[in-house]
Amino acid sequence: MKYNPVTVEIVDQLSKIVGSKNVITDRERLEAYSHDETPTEQYAHMPEVVVTPTSAEEIAEIMRLANHELIPVTPRGAGSGLSGGAIPDYGGIVISVEKMNQILEIDYGNMMMVLEPGVVTNHVNEVIEEEGLFYAGYPMSVETCYIGGNVAENAGGGKAVKYGVTGRYVMGLELVTPTGEIVQLGGKRVKDVTGYDLKQLIIGSEGTLGIVTKVIIKLLPLPTAKVDLLVLFEDVKSAIDMVPLIMTRGRIIPTSIEFMDKLSVKTSCEYLNEHLPYQQCGAMLLIEVDGNRAEQVEEDGETIGELCLEKGALEVYVADNHTTIERVWSVRRNIAEAFKVISPYQSLEDIVVPMAAIPDIMPELERISKKYDIQIPCYGHAGDGNLHATLVKNPDHSMEKWYQVEKEALTELYEATIKLGGTISGEHGIGSKRKPFMDIACDPVELELMRKIKKAFDPNNIMNPGKIFDME
Ligand code: LAC
Ligand code: ZN
Repeated sequence: MKYNPVTVEIVDQLSKIVGSKNVITDRERLEAYSHDETPTEQYAHMPEVVVTPTSAEEIAEIMRLANHELIPVTPRGAGSGLSGGAIPDYGGIVISVEKMNQILEIDYGNMMMVLEPGVVTNHVNEVIEEEGLFYAGYPMSVETCYIGGNVAENAGGGKAVKYGVTGRYVMGLELVTPTGEIVQLGGKRVKDVTGYDLKQLIIGSEGTLGIVTKVIIKLLPLPTAKVDLLVLFEDVKSAIDMVPLIMTRGRIIPTSIEFMDKLSVKTSCEYLNEHLPYQQCGAMLLIEVDGNRAEQVEEDGETIGELCLEKGALEVYVADNHTTIERVWSVRRNIAEAFKVISPYQSLEDIVVPMAAIPDIMPELERISKKYDIQIPCYGHAGDGNLHATLVKNPDHSMEKWYQVEKEALTELYEATIKLGGTISGEHGIGSKRKPFMDIACDPVELELMRKIKKAFDPNNIMNPGKIFDME
């Protein structure tokens, strides 16, 4: 791909559009926009310029300029992504939505909210909690990520078992197209079959089809009762085998069924200086049930606890007050961060398999771990089959060897996952990290249709180029 560089003249024009205080060109400040949460030495790439616009009109103008001059543009939220989606692989312009962080409307009559893309996801719930409402999206980076990034990646997270993922709660979007038009997709309506569902196409398109400048989200009544069970198992197998049984035998769909192997819990506890009773166990499940009747929630919790004990769980701890629940969840939310601190050389995966296949994927991890002589700690959203198997570099291996092992082990992991009816990413996206494996995951016809859609939206291929698939 041949793009033009960002010249002094282009920087001048950008300054005219957004104001010079919203244009970043000095190297030190640009660096912060060169990476996300993927390993820096593998995926980082410097932008030539970063702009922080404050309106859709400004973004549209930037897109028209970029099209005219053939300069790549990469949209960016909080940079908490895990597949390189917000990294400017070809340099050019990064559009950061960090200054578009206003809650534009809380519509109680429709139980909806209109947000700018730079609103921190957690903030949404802080604002509406008192009104007895909540937003069901719950990515693990909830304290830092932006709603715009959640839309771009169709973020999943810890409550998807019961509530589904981001896309279920997005009612409408405002989008700046790659060619610089502003368009409204969807709206405050529960039903809508008026033509193709372009809104849903944009959700999860990883910033390759436009930049989201407004999001209408659906709210739910805030559950008034909640209980969390921390269930200890002797080994990984007993914990994982339990996951489908909670739903098929217990006939209960919990809010969450999170899985953590011993190494994951230990690493996060040490990182947070927190104490959970992991010493005697091989793995844990963190199971949450919520609802509006305390007795029902309690009863469901008991049913699940008893079922786990019947199936050989070592211990069931109950957390039913806000502080304890938050402590346990903090350990879970911080696993990825904790692993990053102890080993920067790793590949954090988010394979997903059908519920019934969850027990079958674990022996594959063990096999691959042995074959390549690397540790593969695992944790994740077991209840929806989405597991964060994490390939960690063997300290005895050279970097060259690690990159070779990573590629081969990933290929085997993905093939095993697909064989079980799963796929290579459940929530983190393809970005640049998983692009080389798209041929394994997708049918050639499907891939060709995706390329045609990309071309229809972005004829000059300037919108986040190099992500998901190559155009050639
Ligand atoms: C989590 C991130 C890695 O679940 O998706 O912790
Ligand atoms: Zn996750």
